[in-house]
Amino acid sequence: MTSAGPAVPALDEAPDAGAMRRAMGQFATGVTVITTVTGDGQPAGCTVSAFSSLSLDPPLVLVCIDRRRAMHQHLTAGSGFGVNVLRTDQRELAVRFAGRGDDRFAGLRTTPGRHGIPLIDGAIAQIQCDLHAVLDGGDHAIVVGRVRQLATREGDPLLYAQGAFLDLPPAQWEGALADAQHEWLLNAPW
Ligand SMILES: Cc1cc2nc3c(=O)[nH]c(=O)nc-3n(C[C@H](O)[C@H](O)[C@H](O)COP(=O)(O)O)c2cc1C
Repeated sequence: MTSAGPAVPALDEAPDAGAMRRAMGQFATGVTVITTVTGDGQPAGCTVSAFSSLSLDPPLVLVCIDRRRAMHQHLTAGSGFGVNVLRTDQRELAVRFAGRGDDRFAGLRTTPGRHGIPLIDGAIAQIQCDLHAVLDGGDHAIVVGRVRQLATREGDPLLYAQGAFLDLPPAQWEGALADAQHEWLLNAPW
């Protein structure tokens, strides 16, 4: 069987980091804070948008963590982690857990989960995982967690794309989606 259309030209040069970031930023994600405990029992956490559901049976999720970060050490040496999916009004936490502040947990309401891992109160999902695998992901590590406990709460997810947080309540998405579908139906070729 021959393939239809022109061949995709080979990418013979690596794209520069800026082009890579711009292209990847076109893909919108939610925002999580990944939490764990360090070897000496201290809470640790960082903001992560590279989170994904991976498998239903067994239940697995993955996060991609920069190898140069302290969090990489904490996660790969630990026994598990929590995924706290942030709500629209938790943008401050997304910034705090990516910043240089001394104590990211100062004044924050948390509940201890498995292995004593802190779970952030008010997160719209709290996903508790045991460490399942650490895979090679270039300058990041792909940290796979086996889901052990779940909690979900009502609320709208904080969204991130093009290097910024998006504030678009679901009511507006529905309107935008309805318009888009209307346009699409009008322009459909049948
Ligand atoms: C919106 C947002 C998303 C981020 N996503 C990731 C990610 O997916 N993986 C990652 O390693 N760092 C990500 N970061 C950066 C980390 O949060 C940041 O490097 C943090 O300081 C790491 O914690 P540590 O220095 O304590 O290890 C993100 C930052 C922001 C603001």
